[in-house]
Parts: sequence; structure tokens; C-alpha cells
Amino acid sequence: MPHVLPTIWMILCVHLICISTQLESTEFIYNGFHQADLYTDGVAKVLPEGQLQLTNGSRQNMGHAFFKKPLEVTSPESLSFSTHFVCALVPKPGFVGGHGIAFVLSASIDLSNADASSYLGLFNISTQGSPSSHLVAVELDTALSSEFDDKNANHVGIDVNGLTSIESAPAAYFSDIKGKNESIKLLSGDPIQVWVDYGGNVLNVSMAPLKNQKPSQPLLSSSVNLSETFPDREIFLGFSGATGTLISYQYILGWSFGGALDVTKLPRVPPHKSKTERPSTLLIFLFVLLAVIVLLVLVAASVYRRRKYAEVREEWEEEYGPHRFSYKTLYNATKGFHMNRVLGKGGFGEVYRGTLPCNGQIAVKRVSHHADEGMKQFVAEIVSMGNLKHKNIVPLLGYCRRKGELLLVSEYMPKGSLDQYLFHDDKPPFSWRRRLMIIKDIASALSYMHTGAPQAVLHRDIKASNVMLDAEFNGRLGDFGMARFHDDWADTATTAAVGTIGYMAPELATVRASTATDVYSFGAFLLEVTCGRRPVDPALSEERRYLVKWVCQCWKMASLFGARDLRMRGEISSEEVEMVLKVGLLCTNALAEMRPSMEEVVQYLNESLKLPDISLDSPGIGSFAPLIIGSTNTFSTSFYSSSSGNDATFLTHSIVDGHGR
Ligand SMILES: *[C@@H]1O[C@H](CO)[C@@H](O)[C@H](O)[C@H]1NC(C)=O
Ligand SMILES: *[C@@H]1O[C@H](CO)[C@@H](O)[C@H](O)[C@H]1NC(C)=O
Ligand SMILES: *[C@@H]1O[C@H](CO)[C@@H](O)[C@H](O)[C@H]1NC(C)=O
Ligand SMILES: *[C@@H]1O[C@H](CO)[C@@H](O)[C@H](O)[C@H]1NC(C)=O
Ligand SMILES: *[C@@H]1O[C@H](CO)[C@@H](O)[C@H](O)[C@H]1NC(C)=O
Repeated sequence: MPHVLPTIWMILCVHLICISTQLESTEFIYNGFHQADLYTDGVAKVLPEGQLQLTNGSRQNMGHAFFKKPLEVTSPESLSFSTHFVCALVPKPGFVGGHGIAFVLSASIDLSNADASSYLGLFNISTQGSPSSHLVAVELDTALSSEFDDKNANHVGIDVNGLTSIESAPAAYFSDIKGKNESIKLLSGDPIQVWVDYGGNVLNVSMAPLKNQKPSQPLLSSSVNLSETFPDREIFLGFSGATGTLISYQYILGWSFGGALDVTKLPRVPPHKSKTERPSTLLIFLFVLLAVIVLLVLVAASVYRRRKYAEVREEWEEEYGPHRFSYKTLYNATKGFHMNRVLGKGGFGEVYRGTLPCNGQIAVKRVSHHADEGMKQFVAEIVSMGNLKHKNIVPLLGYCRRKGELLLVSEYMPKGSLDQYLFHDDKPPFSWRRRLMIIKDIASALSYMHTGAPQAVLHRDIKASNVMLDAEFNGRLGDFGMARFHDDWADTATTAAVGTIGYMAPELATVRASTATDVYSFGAFLLEVTCGRRPVDPALSEERRYLVKWVCQCWKMASLFGARDLRMRGEISSEEVEMVLKVGLLCTNALAEMRPSMEEVVQYLNESLKLPDISLDSPGIGSFAPLIIGSTNTFSTSFYSSSSGNDATFLTHSIVDGHGR
């Protein structure tokens, strides 16, 4: 007995060792091949991330990878095994198709004599179809080769000693849910699971996408006598991949033999950047081009907007900030200075009606100019006029400057300008009452400007067309300083505008504007309103042409009252008319020092101050001395007797008159 025990122990040990080696050699699980004990040849290699790459994307290559230890077949009759692997066939960008791969059972671990291009790296021309090959393969074939009776370019087959499959089918899996075969595209780049089961001399092949379970029915089931193919009872297990003129990348991501593969732990399929980079660079180029075009359009649009709304703004204007309007505001207020917003046209430019959210109705005058010289003083004057507060002055709200253009914003006067009611036949002529009221309004406004305002302000351009009427027909003085504006900047030879001939005091030829020159203009205005005609009318006969002279003529011939506008209807007081005409003659005295002040004029009109005695013989009375603007850009005065008409001069007059209106 003491001898027996060690013997039994020894036998047991040997037995155990045998069993353990057998188990060791026939079971493995590789989720990635980092730790795998593989024999590789050709271009096959394990990538850093653990994928087994069979071929590398070059032509005419093959690669093999075998588990180093062969499967020892001890009892052929009861041989059975199960193996499961995940592969991915990735199309090479720019190339069509590939050859495919095979799961191999081979008597020899060395297949380096095989041929890459036609035989999947399994055979060469002499071993193909020969029983001495001792090779069984499950091919995942992605090329259609009529030589081996292939079904299509996407099939699975069982090969024994040759590539003509003993059993094959288009790649598919049986879906238990749908109860039918679902096809699989082998060369899709997606991982595919393959199961190869052998038992009872039957070899079953199943496949499915990565996310699926093993199908309940195999795709291929064929009887294969492995004892017959492998008489030496040693079988090497592995993979073969090859490329010819057709190229694809071929990867095995995981493999188990007799164990369960965890498909969630597999390495990923190596990404292959699209070799369609050339079209994609073209695409990128087009995209960039498009982006550039869009950018250019945006820039152009913004430049256009900037140009459209461009303004001139200088440092000195900062203090006038509150009086400054942006061009965009005015542009929008007048609906883009639309034609049907035009209120009137004058020598200075167009006037537009507009609406501002905070100011209500406004009038915008666009004045074009070509020099910026004197602009500072002019803007200062405008702003100071904007500060004038009088019920008979059109409130000036502000201004805006652009290149070559000045925009003046004032309150909108709904009834327009007085001259329309004096000279246009489409409007009924005003009654004497209304005319007198307007005359008094303007006298009061002008008196305020000359004496009542913080500092004396000149109007410089008093005339009926610059007298505006508000909703209640109150007279309001507007258009300040325009004459000055033209004085300083306009090309007088061509526009010849300046405060309109007939309203201008004769001394303006030599001296600057003063309150006395404003009084002269006001006198001309008085006569204009009372007589219903302009101070100078070239269309009339010479004796009637100059209003001042004609009024004096009436006075001399018959009565001053006869000079009145005969269209005036309603009650007319001849005393009042004569009084106003006399004030007009006083104001238009050719001698500046003989003219009354505006304060006195207001008192005369209100009859609170007695009118001085005047006659036709009083110095300066009735001597009309029209101020002529010569084409040489100089001022000159000339006196006209009733007989010395000069057509050229009248032409100048009419141009001047036309522009100044
Ligand atoms: C593939 O392997 C072959 C042989 O090692 C080599 O000549 C070829 O350059 C490789 N191709 C690529 C794309 O790496
Ligand atoms: C084919 O392979 C066998 C064995 O692998 C080798 O002996 C033979 O030389 C090869 N024939 C050709 C033509 O390569
Ligand atoms: C699925 O395909 C296999 C192989 O082509 C075939 O044998 C089997 O009958 C098919 N099953 C169905 C349900 O069509
Ligand atoms: C092979 O498939 C057949 C039919 O589905 C099945 O009866 C047999 O058990 C399978 N054999 C193995 C070893 O899985
Ligand atoms: C398999 O082949 C061996 C050897 O040729 C033979 O002895 C055996 O009977 C075969 N088995 C079947 C089931 O055909």
C-alpha cells in the first residue's frame, strides 16, 4: 500500500497536467490582440490599439495570423468546437472592392507560399484543389470569381482544400424577430460577428451585425469530415487576408475559441480618412469661395449702408449734439426723401415732409453746398436760431451735415408759405384782415429777433415765400440765414440767389447785412402783401415793373389806396392800407439811416406810435435802386429811370427771382 499511493498520486498528477495543457491549448478569448500568442506572416500585424490587421492597403499583399498552438485531435469521432470572431472589411477610399478574408483550419502554420491575388492567401496554383493542402476555410468573399463558381461579390462559403466552396450563400443572417434572412454587406466597414461551430462532422457558419445575438439558425451548415482532411490530427486555427488589384482593409477585432467574446470590449475599427480628399478639397474650396462671396456681399452691403447714411461730423459740432440729427433718422422720416414727400423746391434745395416719432411732423430742407468754409459759423447761427422762442418763428429743430449737403430740420407748417396765397390762382386770395394780421405777426417776430432775443439775430431773407403759415394761418418767419449761406458759399455767378432782388437794401452792395437791411426787406414785404405783387416783376411794363416806384406813382397820380391788391375781398379800411403802405415806403427808404427800427414799425402798425409825416419829396422815399448781381460775381447798384430798360439786366432779374423763390 505504501508504494501504491505515490503511484496513484503520480498518475493523477500526470493526468491533471495533461488535462490542463489540453484546456490551455484549446480555449482563449481575445478582446483585441495585445496579449495574443499569434504567429503572423506577410503584412499581418497587431496595431497599437489591439486590432489585428491582415493586409495594409497595398496591392498584391497577404497576411496570415495563426494561434501558435495547434488543436490536437485526440478522438476524431467526438471532435467538436465553437469559435466566434468579429471582423471588419473596410473599403479603401478611392478603390472598388477587395478580395475578402478567410477563417482557416490548416495542417500547416506556414502559408507563405500561397498566392495573394487569386487565392485569398490560402493556396497557390499547384495547391489549389489538391487534397494534399489539408486546409478547410470559411471564406468571407467580396469578389466575384467565376473560376470558383462564386454566387456574387458578397458571399460566405465553406472551402475544403480549394476555393470552390462545398457550400456557400450570400452574406446574411437569420433574424428571429422578422423570421427571415437579412442580408449583410461584408465590405461595409462595420464590424461583423461570425460563429463557426463544428460537431458530429457538421460545420455550421453563422453571422450577424455586432449588435445582434447569435442567430438561432446557421447561414451555412455542411457536413465536413475533419478527420479525413487532417489525418495528422493537428489543426492550426487562424485567419488569412489578401489583396490583388482590388484592395480593402481587413481587421479582426476579437476572437474567442471555446469561450465567450465580450463584444463591448473590442477595439474600434481603425478610421480611414476618405481618400476622396480631392473632391473634398474642391468642396472646401467651394465652401471657402462661398464664404468669401457672402462676406464680400456683407461688406459691400455695409459699405453701401455707410455710404448711404454717411455724414460729416466734426469735433466742433459736439456742443451742438442735441441739435444734430442723424441722416438715417431723416432718411427714414422722409421715406428715403421720396418724391411724393416734396413740399417745395427752391434755389437752396428741396424741402421734404417727414415724420419723427418724438417730434411729429417735420420739414427737412436739403441744401447743397460745395465748400465747408464758414460752416462752423453757419451751424452756430442755425443752432442759436433754434434757440429763438417766439410764436411767430418757425421752430428750427436741428440739422445734419453730409458731404456737399446740409439738412435743416424744422417744424412742419401745414398751410405752406404765404406766397402761394398771394400769387397762385388756385388758392383764394387772403382778405385784408388776414394780411394785416400776418404782417403784424412777422413784424413782431422780426422785432424779437432784432431786440428781444439774447443777441440780435438777422434774418437776411424776408419775403413772402419765407413766411410760413401754421394750422391757424398765423404768420411764422422761417428760413433763417439762408441768404447768408449763399452769400458765403454759393457761386453767385450761376445761382445769383441772395435774398432776391427787390427785397435787398441798396447798401448791401458795399456793406454787410444789418438790422437796417432786414427792415428794408420787411418794407418790401409789406408792399408785396398789400399790393399782391412782387417787388420786381419783369413781365410788367416799365412804369409798373418796380413795386416801390409804382406805389409812389399811385400816390402821386391819385391815391395810395389805389395801389392795393384789387383781389382783396371783404371789409377794407383805406386808412389802414395807406398806413401800411407808408410804413412800407418808410422801411424801403434808400437811405439806411432814415429807416425806422423794427420796434418802431411794430408800434406804427399797432397805431400806438404816430407815423412821421412823409411825402414823396422826403429824402430816399420811393427811389428804388435795384441791387444787381453782375455775372462777374461782383455787386453793383444801378438806378433805372422808367425809360432806360436793359434786357440783359432783366434777364438777370428773372433768373435771380426764379432761383430765390
Ligand atoms: C504594406 O506592406 C508592404 C510590405 O511590408 C510595404 O511595402 C507597403 O509600403 C505597405 N503599405 C502601406 C500602405 O503601409
Ligand atoms: C505552392 O505551395 C507549395 C507548398 O506550400 C510549395 O511547395 C510550392 O512550391 C508552391 N508553388 C508555387 C508555384 O508557388
Ligand atoms: C436563409 O439563407 C440560407 C442560406 O442561403 C437558406 O438556406 C435559408 O433557407 C434561408 N432562410 C430563410 C428563412 O429564407
Ligand atoms: C448545426 O446546425 C444544425 C441545423 O440548425 C443543428 O441541428 C446542429 O446542431 C448544428 N451543429 C452545431 C455543432 O452547432
Ligand atoms: C471520416 O473520415 C475517416 C477517415 O477517412 C473515416 O474513417 C470516417 O469513417 C469518416 N467519417 C464519416 C462520418 O464519414
